[in-house]
Amino acid sequence: MTKACKLAAGNWKMNGLRADLEQARILAQAIAKPNCGVLLCPPATLIAAMADAVAGTAVMVGGQDCHAQISGAHTGDVSAQMLVDSGARYVILGHSERRADHGESSVDVAAKAGAAHGAGLVAIICVGETEAERDSGQTLDVVLGQLAASLPEGATAANTVIAYEPVWAIGTGRTPTLEQIAEVHDALRESLPDAAISLLYGGSVKPGNATEIFAIANVDGALVGGASLKAEDFGAIISALGAA
Ligand code: 13P
Repeated sequence: MTKACKLAAGNWKMNGLRADLEQARILAQAIAKPNCGVLLCPPATLIAAMADAVAGTAVMVGGQDCHAQISGAHTGDVSAQMLVDSGARYVILGHSERRADHGESSVDVAAKAGAAHGAGLVAIICVGETEAERDSGQTLDVVLGQLAASLPEGATAANTVIAYEPVWAIGTGRTPTLEQIAEVHDALRESLPDAAISLLYGGSVKPGNATEIFAIANVDGALVGGASLKAEDFGAIISALGAA
């Protein structure tokens, strides 16, 4: 079995102006030869400028969403091909904030992921339970259900990454226990169409907890929100992953 690739992915969400590209430049200098993939996903307005800023370095750039159609009358939306044209290599899809804020279903996510694959992007498909779902013992049903319905035909380790992000751990400073993360990641690995697909954990990952999270068997990296905004913090997480 091919081993999954390690990836440290930063999701800037709706944060970042052109002045903040300096953080991407500092990061690229600081992690010149990382022992893992390094990805930053800024808002769409910064993708092209960030791709220019980190050109020739180990830092890759991605988008945070794309439309399922190639082009057309979809005001405000961005297509997968547009992301590629801006310098993106990855796209985050089905983040819980998009599922909640924009009513995206797993069927929508699968369609977007199919479009991303068609354009040559790697899709980072997010799954995760709410606190109420965890409290009522539904975590594995929810997460595996989202996975099955969000994966498009033809998903492989070359074009797909899965991120497990418990909704209640995002931006809260709370993280599941290591056993809880392991339980979900083990179940996800069993359910993947290709066992070499990378599995990221996301939700309040910081320099202080990265090492213990990366020591979990089926955790291949992290999808990092707040701590990816500062080169120093994200650089420390990347070092922890490289050393894992
Ligand atoms: P935080 O790292 O800020 O908790 O965000 C996690 C996340 O949602 C990444 O996509």
